Amino acid sequence: MFLSFLQLLAISSLVAAAPSRRANHVVHERRSVEPRNWMKSRRVDPYKVLPLRIGLAQQNLEQLEELLMTISHPDSPSFGQHWSPERVAEHFAPSEDTISTVKDWLTTEGFRGDRIRVSPSKGWIDVNATVSEIEALLSAEYHVYTHPSGHEQISCESYSLPDHIREHVELIKPTVHFKHRIPDGPALHKRDNTTKLGAPSKFKFNGPKTNGTVVAASTPFPISTCDQFIVPDCLRELYEIDYKPKVPEKNSYGIVEFTPQAYLGNDLDIFFGLFSHDQEHKRPDLVSIDGGVVQTTFQDFDLNAESDLDLEYAMTLVNPTKIKLLQTGDLVEGAGFDNWLDAVDKSFCTFDGGDVPGQDGIYPDPAPGGFNHPESCGIIKPPHVVSISYGQDEDEVPVAYAKRQCHEYGKLGMMGSTVLYASGDFGVAGFGGFCPNDIQFNPDFPASCPFVTAVGATQITPGKTVQDPEVACETVIISGGGFSNIFPMPEYQEHAVKKYLHDNPPPYTAAQYSNSGKVRAFPDLSANGANYVVALDGQLELVFGTSASAPVVGSIITLINDARLAHHKGPLGFINPLVFYQDKFSDLFNDITSGSNPGCGTNGFTTAVGWDPVTGVGTPNLSKLLKAWVDL
Ligand SMILES: *[C@@H]1O[C@H](CO)[C@@H](O)[C@H](O)[C@H]1NC(C)=O
Ligand SMILES: *[C@@H]1O[C@H](CO)[C@@H](O)[C@H](O)[C@H]1NC(C)=O
Ligand SMILES: *[C@@H]1O[C@H](CO)[C@@H](O)[C@H](O)[C@H]1NC(C)=O
Ligand SMILES: *[C@@H]1O[C@H](CO)[C@@H](O)[C@H](O)[C@H]1NC(C)=O
Repeated sequence: MFLSFLQLLAISSLVAAAPSRRANHVVHERRSVEPRNWMKSRRVDPYKVLPLRIGLAQQNLEQLEELLMTISHPDSPSFGQHWSPERVAEHFAPSEDTISTVKDWLTTEGFRGDRIRVSPSKGWIDVNATVSEIEALLSAEYHVYTHPSGHEQISCESYSLPDHIREHVELIKPTVHFKHRIPDGPALHKRDNTTKLGAPSKFKFNGPKTNGTVVAASTPFPISTCDQFIVPDCLRELYEIDYKPKVPEKNSYGIVEFTPQAYLGNDLDIFFGLFSHDQEHKRPDLVSIDGGVVQTTFQDFDLNAESDLDLEYAMTLVNPTKIKLLQTGDLVEGAGFDNWLDAVDKSFCTFDGGDVPGQDGIYPDPAPGGFNHPESCGIIKPPHVVSISYGQDEDEVPVAYAKRQCHEYGKLGMMGSTVLYASGDFGVAGFGGFCPNDIQFNPDFPASCPFVTAVGATQITPGKTVQDPEVACETVIISGGGFSNIFPMPEYQEHAVKKYLHDNPPPYTAAQYSNSGKVRAFPDLSANGANYVVALDGQLELVFGTSASAPVVGSIITLINDARLAHHKGPLGFINPLVFYQDKFSDLFNDITSGSNPGCGTNGFTTAVGWDPVTGVGTPNLSKLLKAWVDL
């Protein structure tokens, strides 16, 4: 198993504090970084009963990458032969051997058979147990953690399992998975500190930024000013987007937003009035996930910019293809990435959930105004393309949880979906420029998962035109990129990444980034992320971010899918093996060779000829991609 430097550091510094382990027990999960702002205040009452949930290991996961490549690699005879959701679920479900081994272990440990329950999906074993029983079972120590606001939660730093059990268990709850944010205030990019909304967004919001510029609606926006104002025609010029959808009714493109983020209909109409007349009064198809609502009570940049930006540009670029708005989470609890995954794959969404508090919304939510219904499980088919402009720091995601979620993205690829995530807006640093120990680069998750397509940001140099090569975005935001501390390198990018590291050895140590040359590197590709003219809260503002880049790439893939569907072919699905396949499809992308992604007191990584950890393989050229990818 690959251990990151963070985990190694954590293990060495925590050994002294760890509870004594039973013979033949091995640490199964350990929190790599202790929560900021939370105090470990006292031990938990030993008689307190907790609902212990053991997430069983899925079978055949070691085949996931290879199976995904078989379906997604252009040289494979099975290219494009996506699997049905049922076939995927069955292939990876926990085995009978796993279920009986874990049950036997619990029985041996003194849990009577009638206390042990296997979930209908067979993914989980549930037991109600006292804290003292759990502490003995897992060689763990449970503490109450207290936040300055008075909020409390229970967690342990690590837990252990007998060696022969470990391979049968993915993760156990409640254990190390920690709710980092207090439940009353999203850590959004604040333009000012005047607006407060009682509803939370469960995790840090990798949303767009503004530099405060308000643009007059009477501005003409000719192509010659794309260096100052990006409007849809600039993107059409930059990426050769000149394609009218032929079979929009057969296609699907989903955009995920997390409540309280919401679009304003009036903003869409202002935008369409200027840039896409025939779409006035058109709206996306709302898919409400776990009580997701398009709230209009609270309005400001932080609450409307992401949704307005995503929908205005995506709807315009793929017009008349309809967008599915996957509005996720209620107004009280908010939601996380697992919640939208539950909604598109019911096998991922067991009735008792793989979701963990602090990362995801847990439903039913009994709080006033909460979504007091069972989770939205498998309520829609996975769209052919899904764009998500949200992310969180890798160092705040428990490793087992991140892996479980990442595997799910791989499964969605096997089913034929392209899942795009923005790569982050802080260069090599984490959200808000945060770097553990001040020097460690902090990659963005899920962009760092090898089974998603991570999208970085470019910009037009001031004074230049759409004809000139773009550069890495370093205006207001900095294109996120780098090397994962969790995930090993997928085969599809080995050649390109090794070439980069060989030709441009980064001058940083293993204490700064995961420099083994054997880990997932991102982003995969990029698109413009600067100076977007967005109709927002009734006026036009300039917006910046990989938040803009991801839905634009999603629109381009959606147009390619349209051409494929019109030719009676399936959607592209997981595109990374195609993106990196330069031998067969050279020059499909505009290589970005200028700029870097500074952070953590360094210049970050530099762009280079070919793939680089700032802008990936570069920006797309739809006209070339149509020629290369429609016939596959
Ligand atoms: C655990 O306790 C809860 C509340 O009493 C109960 O609803 C649930 O069925 C129990 N679960 C198991 C596995 O016994
Ligand atoms: C909000 O910002 C203003 C101006 O920057 C500052 O004076 C004020 O203390 C801030 N209020 C809070 C609650 O942070
Ligand atoms: C915002 O960015 C644009 C273009 O990058 C620039 O022209 C403008 O002066 C900036 N506005 C402010 C207030 O910094
Ligand atoms: C995009 O590809 C077409 C050929 O299909 C080419 O003529 C055009 O110059 C390319 N555009 C850019 C910006 O490279």
